[in-house]
Amino acid sequence: MSNLEQTRAAQEVFICETCFKDRNSSIVWAWKSKEVKTEIPDPIVVKGHALFQSQSCNSCHGEGGIGTAAAVALTGVGVKYSESHLEALLHAPNSKMTGGGMQPVVLKPQDLEALSTYLRQLH
Ligand code: HEC
Repeated sequence: MSNLEQTRAAQEVFICETCFKDRNSSIVWAWKSKEVKTEIPDPIVVKGHALFQSQSCNSCHGEGGIGTAAAVALTGVGVKYSESHLEALLHAPNSKMTGGGMQPVVLKPQDLEALSTYLRQLH
C-alpha cells in the first residue's frame, strides 16, 4: 500500500464511523454522513410544524413563520422568549396579537410544547 492509499483508507474508516455502512466510495459516504445529520428532523419539531399548519398559524405568520402583511415573522422568537414565556403568550396572547386577530391557542400541554419547540427553532 502506498502512503496515499494508506491515508485514504484511514480517512474512509473515519468517515464511515459516522455514516452508513455503504461501501461504494468515500465520497458517497461523506455526502451521506452530512445528509444523515441534517435530514433527520426532531420528531417534536415535525409535530410542532404540523400543528403550526393545522392551527392556521401559517395563514397570518406565513409558511415557516417568515411573516406576512397580516403578522410578524416568528423567526427569532426562540431568542426573544423563553420556552415558558412563549407558551404563556400563546395561551394568553397580548393585546397586539389579539388586535391582529390572533386567538388564544387551546391545545393539550404536550401539543403546546411541540408547537413552542417548533417556533423556538425557527431562524
Ligand atoms: C389572524 C392572524 C393570526 C393568526 C392566525 C396567528 N397569529 Fe400570531 N400574531 C398575530 C399578530 C397580529 C401578532 C402581533 C404582531 C406584532 O407584535 O406586531 C402575532 C404575534 C404572535 C407571536 C409573538 C411574536 C413576537 O415576536 O412577539 C407569536 C409567538 C405568535 N403570534 C404565534 C402564533 C401561533 C403559534 C399561531 C397559531 C396557533 C398564531 N400566532 C396564529 C396574528 C396571528
